[in-house]
Amino acid sequence: MARHGKVSVVGAGFYGSTTALRLAEYDIFETVVLTDVVEGKPEGLALDLNQSRWIEGFETKVVGQTTGPNGEGYEVIAGSEIVIITAGLPRKPGMSRMDLIETNAKIMRSVAENIAKHAPEAIVINVANPLDEMTALAQLVTGFPYQRVIGQAGMLDTARFTNFVAEDLGVPVASVKTLTLGSHGDTMVPVASACSVDGTPLADLMPADRIEELVVRTRNGGAEVVALLKTGSAYYAPSAAAARMAKAIHEDSGDVMPVCAWVDGEYGLSGAYLGVEAELGREGIRKVVETPLTDAEKALLVEAYEAVKAKQADVAGL
Ligand code: 2OP
Repeated sequence: MARHGKVSVVGAGFYGSTTALRLAEYDIFETVVLTDVVEGKPEGLALDLNQSRWIEGFETKVVGQTTGPNGEGYEVIAGSEIVIITAGLPRKPGMSRMDLIETNAKIMRSVAENIAKHAPEAIVINVANPLDEMTALAQLVTGFPYQRVIGQAGMLDTARFTNFVAEDLGVPVASVKTLTLGSHGDTMVPVASACSVDGTPLADLMPADRIEELVVRTRNGGAEVVALLKTGSAYYAPSAAAARMAKAIHEDSGDVMPVCAWVDGEYGLSGAYLGVEAELGREGIRKVVETPLTDAEKALLVEAYEAVKAKQADVAGL
C-alpha cells in the first residue's frame, strides 16, 4: 500500500517519541506529527527523527510542533486520520495509575478539546493513565462516537504476559499466545484459558501455581518497570502496542486485538470502556469480539467492569 495520510502523537515524552519513531519507521504514513507543550522539544525530536530516515530507509516525514496553553499550534493535527494521546504524567515508584487521575484529567480535557476542534474526523487512541477512565474522558470531551475513541492497554498487557511465558518455558515469543482483558490496573484479567504454546494449552505445560505467578507478574508489569526506572514508566512495549493499533486502523486490517473499547451488550456488559478483544479498521472499532472464558474468568471480567464503570461514572466531574 502506498504511503499516505497523517497520524499525530500528542505528547513528546518517551512514550510519545518512541511511538512516533515506530510509526515513522513503518513507512506507511505520509506524515507523523509530534506535539508537546515543552517549547522546542517536538521540533527537536522531529528533526532528529528525520535525520535517521536515510539510515533506516523510510520516507515518512516527521513534523514537530510546540503547542500553547490556549491550543496554539494544534492546527498542525488538522486532517489526521489517527491521533494518539500520550500527554499526561507517568507514575512514580509506589504510585498506582489511579493516583494520576486528577492531574491527567486536566491535561486530557485540554488535549481532547483541541482534537475535537482540529481533527474532528480522527480516530483517537488514548494511552494516558488511569487508562480506562482517561479513555472515557477523551470520548466525553471530544463527543466522538464510541468506536472512534479507543484505549491502549490490552496489547501491552498481553505482550508482557507472552514475554513472561516465553521466558519461563524457554520458547520463542512467536510460539506463545496469551490474552489479557479487563482493566489496565488491579482488575486486569490475564486469561489463562486462552494461553497456548504452538497450540498446546498452557495448562498442559506449566503447573497452575506457576501460571498464577505469571498472571500476578503481568498484572504488576507496569509497576515492576516503574520501580526499576525510578523516574518515568515503560515506553518500549507501550509504544509498540499503540503504534501497532494505529497501523491496523490505517491499513483497515480487521486485526483482532485486545484494546480498551466501549462495551454495548457484549458479555452481557454495557455502558463502559473495558479491556476486550476488538476488530480494528478504518472506522476504529469495527466490533467487539467475545472471547470464550471460563466461569472464573468471566466473574473476574465482570468485577473489572464494575470497578471501571464506577470510576468512569465520575469522570464527567473531573
Ligand atoms: C504501563 O503499564 C505505561 O501504563 C503503562 O507501563
